[in-house]
Amino acid sequence: MSGRSSLPLLGPLLGRRPLLPILLALLAAAIFLADTVTNLEIAVAVFYVVIVLIAVRYLDRRGVAMVAAACMTLTVLSFFLTRAGAVPAGVVNCAISLVAIAVTAYLALRAAAAEAQAREAQAQLAHITRVTMLGELTASIAHELNQPLAAIMLNGNAARRWLAGGNPDEAGKAAERIVRDAERASELIKRLRGLTRKAAGKAIWLDVNQLISDTLTLVETEAGRAHVALRAELAGQLPRAQADPVQIQQVILNLILNALEAVSGEEERDVTIVTSPGRSGEIVIEVRDSGCGLNGVELDHVFDAFYTTKPEGLGMGLAISRSIVESHGGRIWAQPAVPRGAAFFFSLQAGRTGSRGSDQ
Ligand SMILES: Nc1ncnc2c1ncn2[C@@H]1O[C@H](COP(=O)(O)OP(=O)(O)O)[C@@H](O)[C@H]1O
Ligand SMILES: [Mg+2]
Repeated sequence: MSGRSSLPLLGPLLGRRPLLPILLALLAAAIFLADTVTNLEIAVAVFYVVIVLIAVRYLDRRGVAMVAAACMTLTVLSFFLTRAGAVPAGVVNCAISLVAIAVTAYLALRAAAAEAQAREAQAQLAHITRVTMLGELTASIAHELNQPLAAIMLNGNAARRWLAGGNPDEAGKAAERIVRDAERASELIKRLRGLTRKAAGKAIWLDVNQLISDTLTLVETEAGRAHVALRAELAGQLPRAQADPVQIQQVILNLILNALEAVSGEEERDVTIVTSPGRSGEIVIEVRDSGCGLNGVELDHVFDAFYTTKPEGLGMGLAISRSIVESHGGRIWAQPAVPRGAAFFFSLQAGRTGSRGSDQ
């Protein structure tokens, strides 16, 4: 939209802000000169729209309005300074240029505002679907939290007894177990907080394998209750990806929850998450299931918003996932799995090689 895609080569140059006013001024001066020396029949001034389009990309509304006003002033000034050519044609050309500049500024500003609104709406929707997903997982998360809490109770009571019985060594060991369980509970809460955060965080050098392991702890209990064998086959050495962990976790959770739903009515209930390096060095994440499969699913539309084949479905999970993956420069796709079920893949651009541990 607007100057963003139409001027890709100028982007890096103009991105360096101090250069922007100088470049715009030079461009305006060149157009002004050309407009003044050529005769009145040639509407050189319409080229000011280029300046307006660049300004929309880098300036706020006021800045764009000022740039457009300056261009229009130069157009009129040049009309009065130009000596050669027929005046009526000059008036018409001048008017056309003025209208072109004004309309371009207006439309480009409107497009930029719509784009910003769409981004905002999408971020809100992503947040809503994250919270909805949490709602689906509440029971198993409560269970997951209950385990360390119950262990803390047990060890606390034991420590009290050891102390009363004059055995501080054993009491100390119980206290260590309490600390370990408390850490486990707080780790889980930390991960949940990420999902409920309103705005997504920032991109970091992400260890995808580690993120998948963390995510699996959120769904393991749910899978266990549904008698699903949840497995991970993680590549030994995977490069890191420059990515936002909250958003990528949202994609992984969407795919896993879909897979769990797909196998729910089946005899065999397998869900496997695989990571591997792709052919062009990217990271490929696959969520494969032995579920109902993709018969009756329109593969061309499966990632569209509100596409669902489930009576209670919202059809937003895959749409949000696609927008997240694409905003990371990756791709998402689906294909039937062998011998049955579905496989959903997404890729992330890889950065430098990472370890399997998490140091972020
Ligand atoms: N693992 C899967 N196996 C079979 N079909 C799937 C799978 N994942 C997604 N789908 C299809 O894609 C549709 C859209 O999924 P999604 O966007 O997550 O929305 P929802 O889960 O609310 O229906 C689902 O309704 C289903 O038809
Ligand atoms: Mg879904």
